[in-house]
Amino acid sequence: MTLRVTVPNDRQLVALTPDDGPALQDLLERCDDYSRLNFGIPTGAADAQSQFLEGLQHVPEQRKHLMGCHVDGRLVAAADLLEGHPDDRTAALGMLVVDPEWRDRGLGTAILLGLGSALSGRGVRRLRVDCHVSENTRAVPLLRRLGFAESSREVITVAAGQTRTRVLWTSGVPLRPRAEERAAVGSDCPQAEEPVAVRSDYSRAGAPVPRPVPPLDRLFGLPGVSAVAEPYYFDSPLFDDYERDVERRTGETDWDLAGLASAVGEGGRVLEVGCGTGRALVHLAATTQASLLVGIDTSEPALERARARVAAAGTGRVEFVTGDFLAYRPESAFDTVLLADCTLNGFTEASAVSGLLTHARSLLASGGRIAVSVFDDGAPAAMSHLDGRMVVDSFADRDGFNHIVIWSMRFDADTALLHRTAAVPRTAPAPGEPVRCVVADMNDRIWTPSTLSPLFAAAGLSVTAEEAATLTSGAADGAPMTTLVLSPV
Ligand SMILES: C[S@@+](CC[C@H](N)C(=O)[O-])C[C@H]1O[C@@H](n2cnc3c(N)ncnc32)[C@H](O)[C@@H]1O
Repeated sequence: MTLRVTVPNDRQLVALTPDDGPALQDLLERCDDYSRLNFGIPTGAADAQSQFLEGLQHVPEQRKHLMGCHVDGRLVAAADLLEGHPDDRTAALGMLVVDPEWRDRGLGTAILLGLGSALSGRGVRRLRVDCHVSENTRAVPLLRRLGFAESSREVITVAAGQTRTRVLWTSGVPLRPRAEERAAVGSDCPQAEEPVAVRSDYSRAGAPVPRPVPPLDRLFGLPGVSAVAEPYYFDSPLFDDYERDVERRTGETDWDLAGLASAVGEGGRVLEVGCGTGRALVHLAATTQASLLVGIDTSEPALERARARVAAAGTGRVEFVTGDFLAYRPESAFDTVLLADCTLNGFTEASAVSGLLTHARSLLASGGRIAVSVFDDGAPAAMSHLDGRMVVDSFADRDGFNHIVIWSMRFDADTALLHRTAAVPRTAPAPGEPVRCVVADMNDRIWTPSTLSPLFAAAGLSVTAEEAATLTSGAADGAPMTTLVLSPV
């Protein structure tokens, strides 16, 4: 339902959309004192982004309003309102910022009055101001003049261990300002003749990113946010759900399957290191003459899915081992050892890759080979756009609840080191409770044939075949890929 707000006519209060992200960010940066007062830190580079994402999960989308007031095309004020919070008859103002150049001119007062009247027409009985700390002394006289009374105060800890006294002010709506306040607003901000239609547009799910931002590091420094770190891939149920949903929507990675099948060739015993959910092994069972396919992975949740996949495919030649490949001592050698889908990238140190390749080589039968699927040369240079990139995606968990996942990336093209953080706000927070996020942190190195070449040589391996491919999904969509076949020298 549209919120209709009567505000100053030539300074309309309109819904902000993600396209307004840069303008909102500029405004928040001009209102740096707002961030310092409330959070003890300067405006952050992702604060506008946060405004489009945040809001309580249990408040329906159409009751979250992020609005702005423009003068001559410039955004000079913004307000953030949750309607029906903390109860059906109350609305909570989470933010009100006014450009320093526009302060003391009645604009903030007019916005509050306009909101009060609009809300009273929608059955709301109270307006609560949630964005005030006692250190913000200039707001107090204004709130008093508009008829607000203090309803509670509490000491909170903000960034860097500073404390603030958060004061909640509440008033019935419509607001009943003192006469002089009404006069001041009237002279500077005449009332609109027609109501202005304001549309709520938080666009939480799959919102386009208004501007690239650095990683999510700031989120975890904010007061009221608590993070639980969990391993990515399949070890956390939530990230496992994310993987399943992405697979369901976009299909699975298959760029390396042809190269892996060529490496397996005529058949024999096959071992996949880091087999994950069995994607490659089930494909190879169906398309090659391999006599046995063994997958080893440290992640039991991944292997659970792999076993289910094998059962569904009805193949009897696939087996799984749970554990660390480096500690794996099989009784018989293998004809092919596979490292599919950039599994090598999880080993960021050259010494770790050397150890892995040396151990793989030691498990080969006479005439055996190793296949590694990696990014091709040139890919890292073309991936610099990932640095500082933030991606918001949505997914449904196994119970049908929708979540957002926020990806944030750092990429150093010189070292080819990719650092990714994925965060999922987990629970609908209760009033006063911290927002809990599940966070996974990943480090990869984008190994390519040329950076691996000395490591192959050190492990006594040389490249005997190569099959090129192109990545068709994910943040590096379109990147050149390759599967290298290595044989002992
Ligand atoms: C990029 S995923 C590849 C999944 C699978 N190979 C595929 O192509 O779909 C890498 C996998 O390697 C596993 N892994 C990482 N280190 C491992 C180790 N030391 N031993 C066994 N598995 C490992 C991870 O759990 C993860 O499932």
